[in-house]
Amino acid sequence: MTGIVLAVGAPPTFRGQVARAMGIDSQEVEWMPTVSAAEGALVDHQLDPNVLVLSPTIKDADAVGLAEYVGRVAPTSAVLLVRDRDSDGFLPVAVRAGIRDVIDLSKGGQDLREALERAVAWSENLRSHRKLEEMAPVRRGTVISVFASKGGAGKSFLSTNLAAAISRATPADTALLDLEFGLGDAFSYFGSEPAHPLQDLLGLGDQPSREAVLEAGTKLRDNLWGFASPPDPASGGLGGEAMGKVIRALKGAFSHVVIDATDEYSDAALSAFDLSDIICLIAGLDVLGVRHLSVALETLVSLGFSPERFRVVLNRADSKVGLKPADVERVLKLRVDALIPSSRLVPASLNLGRPVVEDQPRSAVSKAVVGLAYKLATIETGRSKRGRSRKH
Ligand SMILES: Nc1ncnc2c1ncn2[C@@H]1O[C@H](COP(=O)(O)OP(=O)(O)OP(=O)(O)O)[C@@H](O)[C@H]1O
Ligand SMILES: [Mg+2]
Repeated sequence: MTGIVLAVGAPPTFRGQVARAMGIDSQEVEWMPTVSAAEGALVDHQLDPNVLVLSPTIKDADAVGLAEYVGRVAPTSAVLLVRDRDSDGFLPVAVRAGIRDVIDLSKGGQDLREALERAVAWSENLRSHRKLEEMAPVRRGTVISVFASKGGAGKSFLSTNLAAAISRATPADTALLDLEFGLGDAFSYFGSEPAHPLQDLLGLGDQPSREAVLEAGTKLRDNLWGFASPPDPASGGLGGEAMGKVIRALKGAFSHVVIDATDEYSDAALSAFDLSDIICLIAGLDVLGVRHLSVALETLVSLGFSPERFRVVLNRADSKVGLKPADVERVLKLRVDALIPSSRLVPASLNLGRPVVEDQPRSAVSKAVVGLAYKLATIETGRSKRGRSRKH
């Protein structure tokens, strides 16, 4: 049996007892005379034992205190308590404090040996998982999906401009994912076309490197990459599971992922919503748009998506249209998060192949999108972040 074992408590012969149970020399077991000496060694990182084994002379209350302390400062170390009598009554209290086992030595050394073996194995196992976690990419991107159940509401306009605004405001990399199979509309807003099929990402395994993910994308701007299927209807769209893989790969490689979702509840779109931190619902400020928005909300809630994640964006929301955002809030029972005016700059920027936030950053339409991007991507502006609450 390997692993570092720390025997705690008088008498000093307890160390030998533990060593004998493990079948090793007593010098190979660490020993501290008191609970406070053990706590001191842990907090100073002098020792990082797999197991602390407490002698029968340590009082129950001290054992509980030490176990709780270990749980906080050294959660991958196991604590065992040795007693020289039956102490089954104390077991529930001990377990609640995080003690893994209470061993009755009056029954012989075999129980101690087995308990030590189990405790060392538990600790080693936990530590190897921790190491894997440390090696895995720690960056997990924020995923923002843009959805409308009605075509032409402005999904591609909003998602492309959000992605452009976020990538311009943060030094980290942003990804734009176009779910619309075969058209690559989102790329047109950048005057670009997808260079690789989305399927390329799937061949990269479960935890692809950042470099491999970037290579499967198309560079649209400084720190902005686009992902989409090229217009090849023969290759078919991605299913829900495959789309989940794609989005997880992007989450691992980018600080923000903006998704231009389809206007139907496809498996791929539902997978995207599952993995989204924010689902932006966009609709025109007109009776049809609001009706679609209301049905989309109901549908998504009935599919199990929490309204906490929804953000409502009204597009082409000028004062002249007759309908007021407050009316929409009343009908939807949700706060409207952004109003985006209608502007001829939007189709003009599309024709130029430059997002309007890049081409005309001072325009009202750009300011509305950039304001929303800061809110959604929680980019610090000095203003306090508002909590989200459902309107009633
Ligand atoms: N605020 C706006 N002002 C002016 N034109 C806009 C505005 N928002 C979107 N448009 C224009 O409306 C058209 C539809 O927008 P967009 O392509 O973004 O919609 P969509 O929801 O992605 O549509 P689809 O369902 O076809 O994917 C585009 O020509 C776009 O330039
Ligand atoms: Mg579109």
